[in-house]
Parts: sequence; structure tokens; C-alpha cells
Amino acid sequence: MIHTRRARPGELQALLAVHRAAFGRNDEAELVRRLHLAGDNSSELLAETGTDVVGHVMYSPCRIEHGDDGHVLGLAPVGVLPAWQGQGIGSTLIRQSLDNLRSEGHVRAVVVLGDPAYYARFGFTPASRAHLHDTYGGGDAFMVLALQPGGLAGYHGRVDYAPAFDLLTD
Ligand SMILES: CC(C)(COP(=O)(O)OP(=O)(O)OC[C@H]1O[C@@H](n2cnc3c(N)ncnc32)[C@H](O)[C@@H]1OP(=O)(O)O)[C@@H](O)C(=O)NCCC(=O)NCCS
Repeated sequence: MIHTRRARPGELQALLAVHRAAFGRNDEAELVRRLHLAGDNSSELLAETGTDVVGHVMYSPCRIEHGDDGHVLGLAPVGVLPAWQGQGIGSTLIRQSLDNLRSEGHVRAVVVLGDPAYYARFGFTPASRAHLHDTYGGGDAFMVLALQPGGLAGYHGRVDYAPAFDLLTD
């Protein structure tokens, strides 16, 4: 039985272990560690089975070149332990965390850089249609989701992720 909940203080190592195993390298775990250190872990949700953490998604603040008001978050990273992938846990984490942000009400929009075929199912559409672009040359892989009516109004230009993302090269 899988359930989702907020991460508690003291659980960082378990979250890092999920990303290390999910991505098969340390970069995303290091990203999560640095986001935590900087206090840029704006929102996060974990999935657990019994007492084991098997998945984790996090959101951090983004800066918009024009119209920035501090109400846009970037979704990254999301990871599920390899043995638990393909069973709906990643989708549950993303849907549930987006629902939480929607009901909390202060986040206007979320951006993500990922596979359009995966993220379209959660409502993400190419950010270029909203006149937004990333700094990685993501093209249509850079997507956006408004969490409120008019959530994207007034935003355009380059979207910068939190400084911790500077360590990621691919
Ligand atoms: C991506 C990931 C979080 C999805 O979680 P999951 O629990 O395995 O996914 P779900 O069971 O909810 O959904 C399965 C769907 O995701 C797709 N999928 C799985 N990994 C994917 C990936 N890396 N990129 C794109 N799609 C992926 C599967 O093909 C499947 O698609 P389908 O429903 O059309 O058959 C997980 O597979 C993972 O940790 N992968 C390694 C890390 C990673 O690539 N993270 C995403 C980039 S930030």
C-alpha cells in the first residue's frame, strides 16, 4: 500500500537515496540537497510504502524575466525507486502535489522541463505558447501549467530556476 505525505525534517537522506537510485547518479540528489540547504524547497511530497520512502517530487522558486511576482515554481526533480517505477507512483506524486498547490492558492503556475508525452497528461503545455522559455534550450520539453485562471497573465521571457540548478549540466 502506497501513500503520499509531506516530507518531515530529518528525512533528507531518504529523499536523496531515492533520487540517487532513480537517476543512477548523484546529480539530482545533490540538487535536492542544495535546494534544501538554500531553503528553496518550496513544496515537496514523498511516497512511501510501509516505512520505506519510494518516491519524491519537489518544487522550487523560479524567476520570470518579465512580470515576476514570486508565484511560479519549477517542478524538479521527481524520482521513483527503480523497483517501483511504472506503477503509477510518479503520476500520483505529481497529481497530488499539483492539487495541494492548487488548493493552497498562492502558486499561479508551475514549469517543468521533461518529456512532453509524460507531462501532457497532467495538463502541461509548451511554455513557448505562453511566450516563456528556459535557459537550457529545452524547446517543447519546457512546459507550463497554470494553477489558477489567468495564472500566466503578465509573464513573459526567460525563466530562471533556483541557483542550485546551476550544477546540472544535462
Ligand atoms: C519518471 C518517473 C518519476 C515516473 O514515475 P513512475 O512511477 O515510474 O511513472 P508512472 O507509473 O506514474 O507512469 C508511467 C509512465 O511514465 C512513463 N515514464 C517513465 N519514466 C519516464 C521518463 N524518464 N520519461 C518519460 N516518461 C517516463 C512510462 O513510459 C509510463 O508511460 P505510459 O503511462 O504512457 O505507459 C520515474 O520513472 C523515475 O524516477 N524515472 C527516473 C528518473 C527520471 O527520469 N525522472 C524524471 C525527470 S525529472
